[in-house]
Amino acid sequence: MNIPPKVTLIDVSARDGLQNEAEILTPAQRAELVQRVSAAGLPELEFGSFVSPKAVPQMAGADEVFKTAVRNPAVRYHGLVPNMRGYENAVAAGVTDVRLVVAASAPLHEANFRRTIDESLADHTQIVARAKQDGVHIEAVIGGSFGDPFVGRTPVSAVMHCVDHYYAIGVRDISVADTVGMGTPKQVAEVITTIQRTYPDVTLGTHFHDTRNTGFANVITALDLGVLRHDASLGGTGGCPFAPKAGGNICLEDLVQMLYGMGVDTGIDLDGLIESARWLQGVLGKPLPSRMLKAGPVYPVFKPVSATPAAASS
Ligand code: COA
Ligand code: ZN
Repeated sequence: MNIPPKVTLIDVSARDGLQNEAEILTPAQRAELVQRVSAAGLPELEFGSFVSPKAVPQMAGADEVFKTAVRNPAVRYHGLVPNMRGYENAVAAGVTDVRLVVAASAPLHEANFRRTIDESLADHTQIVARAKQDGVHIEAVIGGSFGDPFVGRTPVSAVMHCVDHYYAIGVRDISVADTVGMGTPKQVAEVITTIQRTYPDVTLGTHFHDTRNTGFANVITALDLGVLRHDASLGGTGGCPFAPKAGGNICLEDLVQMLYGMGVDTGIDLDGLIESARWLQGVLGKPLPSRMLKAGPVYPVFKPVSATPAAASS
């Protein structure tokens, strides 16, 4: 098994984690979540999305979240953006890390963004051109890369249609997302190796949901293939409001525990993370899927050399 010594985890709890919650958190509460996660040593996180507040009221005020959250220069704060309007709003707030989002499967894409995949890709071409001038870093996130709740399995060719486009316009950071948790390890290997063979210079990332208990098997499959960037969410929160029966992301603290158990460094303070997951559970007022909240970590917790103490400012 090919287990790397170090991986980069990206927390998406302040975006994916909250966008499908009945309880709408205020920008101040979301900023606290962002601060807690960054204080636990996360090197990157998504703080929100620049989408229509009519479509996703949970994400209203993403600019305020960004401006309020104390900025740690060592942390990359990503804003999710579907269209030019969202890009302009993000840049106006001062965001310098944008994740462009598309879905590989047409029904899921159109349910989310009310336009065709190719309309979004054409819009993203304009955004990437603007971003070069603005000095904004772009990463593409391809949702529904493994399955679509309306039509089932996503063919690899549909994922490659999007990857080809982003590569052609100069994007070299691409994440494949299993929005509805339909992927299985064999399929994950097929998608990842196809991208790796076609574009060896793309830095790949993953975004798995644990809707059907395959999230951890999938992330291990990706790790084994040398993918070093993985999304996860505090408490295992998450879900897409436009995908029926969407479930949570793979749980960040459970993933950190598993990685530490294998000696993989994430730079994250696991105890601090669990404490914040407990806080988030209280704020949302319902039990979260986190196994760390139920079973606790395996002590003594592995302390990687690069771990940032929870008390460190961010
Ligand atoms: N941020 C804020 N407002 C936006 C926006 C953005 N990125 N893009 C469009 N709008 C506004 C328009 O200005 C318009 O406002 P108005 O009604 O006050 O005039 C309104 O939204 C409708 O604009 P329109 O271009 O007709 O878009 P739409 O209604 O077809 O909605 C999206 C398109 C993409 C904005 C909307 O579907 C959306 O926000 N989807 C997000 C889906 C999502 O977040 N899914 C989960 C993440 S994967
Ligand atoms: Zn997701």
